[in-house]
Amino acid sequence: MISIKTLGQFIIEKQADFPYAKGELSRLLRDIGIAAKIVNREVNKAGLVDILGSIGDSTNVFGENQKKLDVFADEQFIAALKDGGECCFVASEEQEEGILLTDTGVSKDAKYIVCIDPLDGSSNIDVNVSVGTIFSIYRRISPLGESLTEQDLLQNGLKQVAAGYIIYGSSTMLVYTTGKGVNGFTLDPSIGEFCLSNPNMKIPSSGKIYSINEGNYSKFPNGIKQYIKYCQEEDVASNRPYTSRYIGSMVADIHRNLLMGGIFIYPQTAGQPYGKLRLMYECNPIAFIIEQAGGKASTGTERILEIEPQELHQRVPAIVGSSEMVDKVLEFIAQS
Ligand code: AHG
Ligand code: MN
Ligand code: MN
Repeated sequence: MISIKTLGQFIIEKQADFPYAKGELSRLLRDIGIAAKIVNREVNKAGLVDILGSIGDSTNVFGENQKKLDVFADEQFIAALKDGGECCFVASEEQEEGILLTDTGVSKDAKYIVCIDPLDGSSNIDVNVSVGTIFSIYRRISPLGESLTEQDLLQNGLKQVAAGYIIYGSSTMLVYTTGKGVNGFTLDPSIGEFCLSNPNMKIPSSGKIYSINEGNYSKFPNGIKQYIKYCQEEDVASNRPYTSRYIGSMVADIHRNLLMGGIFIYPQTAGQPYGKLRLMYECNPIAFIIEQAGGKASTGTERILEIEPQELHQRVPAIVGSSEMVDKVLEFIAQS
C-alpha cells in the first residue's frame, strides 16, 4: 500500500508548529482547498460547456473584460470563505471594494483577512493554457468586536501568515507557505484530494530561464533592457544565452521557475509607471512563497514584502525568482 499524505492531514500536523493555534488558520486553508477543487472542476470542463468567453459587457474594476470563469472562481472562493467562518474580510481582484464578512453570524469572530486573485492568467482559458489562483492571508489587528480599519487591510507583505497558489495545469497543484518553508500538493482526481508531492520546495539559486513580455521591450527601463541583452549573450561560464519562456499566467511562469530556476519580470513601462501586477493578491503572496523557497522578490528598488501598501488594488513592478538572477537584474538597474 502506498502511503500518501493529504493536504488536510498535513495542515493538521503542521498546526503543532504554532503552539497557541486553535485550528482557525488550518480551517481557513482547508476552505480554500475545497473551493480550489470546485474551480478546478470547472476549469477542466471549460471547453465542454458554455462557460467560455466573456459575460456580456461585464468588466472588472480595471476596465478589463471579465471572463465567465473569473466570475465563477471569485464567487466560489468568496462563498467558501464566507461559509467557513474564519475570514472577516476578503479583498479580491474582481471586487472594487473588499467584502466585509463579520456581519454574517458565522464570521462574527473571524480573525483572518484574505486577499485573492481568484483566476490568474484568465486570457489563457480559451486556449487551454494553465491558469491559477493566488491567495494571501493576514491576521486582523483590530480587536474582535471593533470595526476593521485600514491598518487591518493594508498590512505589508511581511505580516502575511500564509500565502499560496493553485495552478490548474497538466495536473492541478496547490503550493503554500505559512512561513516555515514551501510545500506542494498535487490533486489526485481519482480520490479528490490534494496529496503532498513536493515537500520543502527550494528554488535553485540560479537558472537558465527568463520570463518577461518582450513585446514591451521598447517601453522598458534601461536596466531591464540591458539585463535582457545580458540573458541573450553567449557566455559558456555563466551558461548563457538563457532560454526565454513566458506563458502570460504569472502563476504558471512562477511555478516553472520555482521548480527549474529562473527569473520572472514584470517591470514598469513608459505607459504603466507601476507595472501591471497587483501587490496585495499577486506580488506579495508570490514574494512570500519565493523567499520561503530561498529566492528573492524586488520591485527593482525595494523588497516587495517591505512595501507599505497604500490601496488594495495597488500595482508594483516585480522581479522575482532565483536569488543570483534577481541580484544581477538589480545590479543592472543600479548602474543604469
Ligand atoms: P489576471 O488574469 O489575474 O488579470 O493576471 C494576468 C497577469 C499575470 O498573470 C500575467 O503574468 C500578466 O498579467 C500578463 O500580462 P501581459 O499580457 O501584459 O504580459
Ligand atoms: Mn492575476
Ligand atoms: Mn485574475
